[in-house]
Amino acid sequence: MVSRRQLLAGPIGAAAVAALGRADGAVGSGAASEARVVVDGRPDWGAVRAQFRMEPGWVNLAMFYLASHPRVVREAVDHLRRQIDANPLSVTAGLSLPDGPTGWPRVRAALADYLGAQPEHLAMTASTAIGLGVVYNGVRTRPGQEFVLSDNDHFTHVEAARLAADKHGARVRLCSWFDDPARTTAEEVTRAVREQIRPHTRVLGVTWVQSSTGVRMPVRRIAEVVRQANKGRGEADRCLLVVDGVHGLAAVDEDGARLGADVLVAGTHKWLFGPRGTGLVWVCPQALDQVRPTFASFIRGGGAAPLSPGGFLAFEHAFALPVSVAFHQRLGRTRVADRVTELSTRAKEGLARIPGVTLRTPSAPGLSAGITCFSVRGRSDEEVVARAAERRIRLSHASNENRPYPRIGTGIMNSPDDIDTALTAIADIAR
Ligand SMILES: Cc1ncc(COP(=O)(O)O)c(C=O)c1O
Repeated sequence: MVSRRQLLAGPIGAAAVAALGRADGAVGSGAASEARVVVDGRPDWGAVRAQFRMEPGWVNLAMFYLASHPRVVREAVDHLRRQIDANPLSVTAGLSLPDGPTGWPRVRAALADYLGAQPEHLAMTASTAIGLGVVYNGVRTRPGQEFVLSDNDHFTHVEAARLAADKHGARVRLCSWFDDPARTTAEEVTRAVREQIRPHTRVLGVTWVQSSTGVRMPVRRIAEVVRQANKGRGEADRCLLVVDGVHGLAAVDEDGARLGADVLVAGTHKWLFGPRGTGLVWVCPQALDQVRPTFASFIRGGGAAPLSPGGFLAFEHAFALPVSVAFHQRLGRTRVADRVTELSTRAKEGLARIPGVTLRTPSAPGLSAGITCFSVRGRSDEEVVARAAERRIRLSHASNENRPYPRIGTGIMNSPDDIDTALTAIADIAR
């Protein structure tokens, strides 16, 4: 008797592997619309913007919050949905994108290529929050050990750690990595991390790009501090570096799997514009034995596959992920990150010039990415966001955080004009 899990993992087989060989990343019906976003080898940012169904008449600087599907992704999702609607058993018989079969092997291979990882070291989830829950629940922990995080990590990260610590007989300790996010330095952060790792620290949880401050944490340097702290420790005592990478993935030009972390968790439905309800967990080979599965997995194989929560999912979303990766690869990860930085630098420089406005994110591109936080003297954070909305400008603020600063998110669908319009409105609000 063939299990559901085998059926789902199996029939993709050789055809999928063949499809993976395509180095250009062009995908099926999306290829035509994708091709137009790159002209003479360079992204045409106007054409990129046209891929998104943004609401007319609004400047939206909160597009990172949850992905708006670019056209190529909408087409891929529709293509898969038609197959499932026509015959739900097709999820076991094999689903296809126009250029060939798709399924978990192809999804994991595409993401691995993007992250500089091996496919077998990837687990698939439906969100960052689920990935964090999988990791903290799964990590082999002895009573008395601790998970160390900071007061600026997302509540889903802190809660995942707390809920799991409760079951493990462990505890969570929250630290501060810096005094003032706008003025922090890599030295300040690494010094604080060095001071806070104790012999019973089992996990150090950090956020690659904090949604509450916009600070991009110096993950490589933190990893080096952790490496030093682990000298002489056995596997069961090793401090594991767990990174919530959701706002770094596809906003920063780095191989996520080569940052030095033990585990990288990310939703793929924010900056990567993957289908909503998709995410990943990457586990470095040395840490694989330290994280145990929590759910039955439908993805066959060893490595990190058993960490993937199983069950029937929105496969038309999950299996369209390779199209999002191909879209980014076609534009070029460096060019995407450069554009995000160019726009966020414009926002930061403009905010710094407005009387009464305080920038809360570091101005250095190396310590920030696509999220720029600020505050306005005499106005509450909520009021700034509400007043901007009255002017048809969407800002966001981090909910459930210490201080929900208003945020400008600069995605590749935004333009310099978007930033300037928002700056004019913010200057007005600050008057
Ligand atoms: C830093 C950070 N981590 C985790 C999450 C949760 O992400 P998801 O919606 O993928 O669970 C968010 C959500 O915005 C976030 O900003």
